Amino acid sequence: MMKLTFVTTNDGKFREFSASLQDSGVELVRRSQEYPEIQTDTLEKVVRFGLDWLREKVPGNYVIDDSGLFIDRLRGFPGVYSAYVLKTIGLDGVLGLMKGQEDRAAEFATTIGLFNDGDVHIFTGRCRGKIITSPEGTGGFGYDPIFVPDGDLRTFAGMTVVEKNSVSHRGKALKMLNDYIKRNAVS
Ligand code: IMP
Repeated sequence: MMKLTFVTTNDGKFREFSASLQDSGVELVRRSQEYPEIQTDTLEKVVRFGLDWLREKVPGNYVIDDSGLFIDRLRGFPGVYSAYVLKTIGLDGVLGLMKGQEDRAAEFATTIGLFNDGDVHIFTGRCRGKIITSPEGTGGFGYDPIFVPDGDLRTFAGMTVVEKNSVSHRGKALKMLNDYIKRNAVS
């Protein structure tokens, strides 16, 4: 089977990638390696820099994932700072910023970058939903316990990996990656 390396230190992302790519015809291999995440304004710029930086270091073809939670009322914050914000103020801090706010709409976005035989491909998926007032659910990772996708009553943390993939930002980006793999040889 053809091999594709996923460079990530995040167990949750790897679980979701594995579930989505399981029938794609590629064998997903994990490489837990850090790479620089530049401070800039879009996920795509972060991903393009990361892909380029990894070029000399990762053998064969590989993918990376950069994601963020963009809260409407906070004008898109934490967005590209999502990892830093979770590490510093945490879920409680974000809920504190949203205290008393009626407009709780937010969007998750994932940009997947694929390096395939010297070419770079970018796939972006989005999922709109709401920030609830206190964490719910034990699954998932990161901001999952406070985000309910539109059309559902459960948080991402209350879903199985397969259920989350069927509606999530990452699930949509993975579908685009799957479609690309079906149309092109990736090895
Ligand atoms: P990054 O893509 O690793 O930079 O992720 C940014 C931050 O968002 C990290 O703190 C992740 O834990 C969190 N995050 C990324 N994807 C998801 C998701 O699908 N659900 C919840 N949190 C996420």
